Amino acid sequence: MSKKKTAVIVLAAGMGTRMKSDLPKVMHPVGGRPMINHLLATLAKIDVDKTVIVVGPDMEILETAVAPHTTTVQYDRAGTGDAVKVGVQALGDFKGNVLVLYGDTPLISEQTLNGMLEARDGQPGKIPPSVVVLGFFPMEPGAYGRLILDEEEGDLMAIVEAADATPEQLEIGLCNSGVMCFDASLLPQFLSRLSNDNANGEYYLTDCVRIACEDGFSCSVVEGDEEELIGVNSRVELAQAEVIFQDFMRDKAMKGGATLLDPSTVYFSHDTCIGREVIIEPNVQFGVGVTLGHNVRVKGFSHLEGATLKNGVTVGPFARLRPGTVLGEDVKVGNFVEIKNTAVEQGAKISHLSYIGDARVGREANIGAGTITCNYDGYLKHHTNIGDGAFIGSNTALVAPVVIGAGAIVGAGSTITADVDSNDIVTTRAEQKTGKGAAEAYRTRKRAEKEKLKKG
Ligand code: UD1
Ligand code: CA
Repeated sequence: MSKKKTAVIVLAAGMGTRMKSDLPKVMHPVGGRPMINHLLATLAKIDVDKTVIVVGPDMEILETAVAPHTTTVQYDRAGTGDAVKVGVQALGDFKGNVLVLYGDTPLISEQTLNGMLEARDGQPGKIPPSVVVLGFFPMEPGAYGRLILDEEEGDLMAIVEAADATPEQLEIGLCNSGVMCFDASLLPQFLSRLSNDNANGEYYLTDCVRIACEDGFSCSVVEGDEEELIGVNSRVELAQAEVIFQDFMRDKAMKGGATLLDPSTVYFSHDTCIGREVIIEPNVQFGVGVTLGHNVRVKGFSHLEGATLKNGVTVGPFARLRPGTVLGEDVKVGNFVEIKNTAVEQGAKISHLSYIGDARVGREANIGAGTITCNYDGYLKHHTNIGDGAFIGSNTALVAPVVIGAGAIVGAGSTITADVDSNDIVTTRAEQKTGKGAAEAYRTRKRAEKEKLKKG
């Protein structure tokens, strides 16, 4: 942790043209959460005194997503240097570290950020660097800015943007991640000297390094890991960030005591919460808001979102749990079952081919194959309450609002439109009629009809 106070400026005003999207770039999700919120969640874990997020005009959706953080608008998107100027104004009179983060670099860790702040404190007995830049060696340096080091001392002398670099400079593997930490008292003077005389006609924040060196201040590099520092400019890079994030989540799940039978086919949300002795089969997807207790088994091809599964639950294969699903202890949900906004209480079973929505299923109730809660009348949603220990026969339609009392039995193929009292047996299907031995007479008649048609 740094001895100085720290303010953070997060740049998020860019148009993200390369995303070809109406959504501000930093609102695109990784692991179900906008990139900008990944950064803010990491910032919440370090010691920050002030945070300002630089947004573009007409980005209400972004301002809402980052609330209650302070935002400030960069009206003329004239480059990262201009954006930081806008951020600095919003910080007012601040002394200490100014940490600049790019909203499109979502996976940076708190350890790396703390390392940057510590580097700004410098070595004992030496003058601390006025600027610290987080560098890395990407597999493909491509469009990243290149870090130019002093050959003797290894100090950072300049950052050259790829668009302005010479072929020799493009050979440099050490690149700018975009994360920079400045001495707050020097930053305004560096910014005031930026020019937009470059390939992109923009005010580059990265030019601050050259300016600092010209003014006799030292700059240094902290080296980070590509996994954390990927910058997302296009949907291809968004997909790469997602792959990195999913691998991180899979590792975290396994280290936390879950078995993943085929890890690369399981997709997590940033907030998926998993207990111990959990088994997750191949091809399972977790949307936002899923919590699994201990000893849960999620079988293949299941899709879960906004669902809480208590200890001992089994779901799938091919189960779909939608928001508002709570499965009590030892509940069993089988194949081709969809559940939403429903509490299924301890030990209940919904084993095959059902839709259960806006309902309560009591303890130890058994819901037969093909049961449907008819919760929607075309205008409004209605509730179904199935009592403890009730038995719902296969292919039953429960037309909500309706209450099935505890211990009641509903015969297969029923359409239930009125409440059923506890321990009653109800069926609504038509009576079965029998034609004793009539099958043979039927076949003889039909064969004759067919023969006649052939001859005619
Ligand atoms: C930037 C760096 C480059 C570095 C790379 C790391 C500069 C000039 N270049 O390039 O050295 O290797 O990031 O990923 O800084 N933004 C604003 N206002 C603007 C322009 C940009 O807020 O006027 C924001 C964007 O929303 C984005 C961030 O700043 O979150 C970076 O901008 P971007 O255009 O993506 O910079 P890169 O070309 O990736
Ligand atoms: Ca970028």
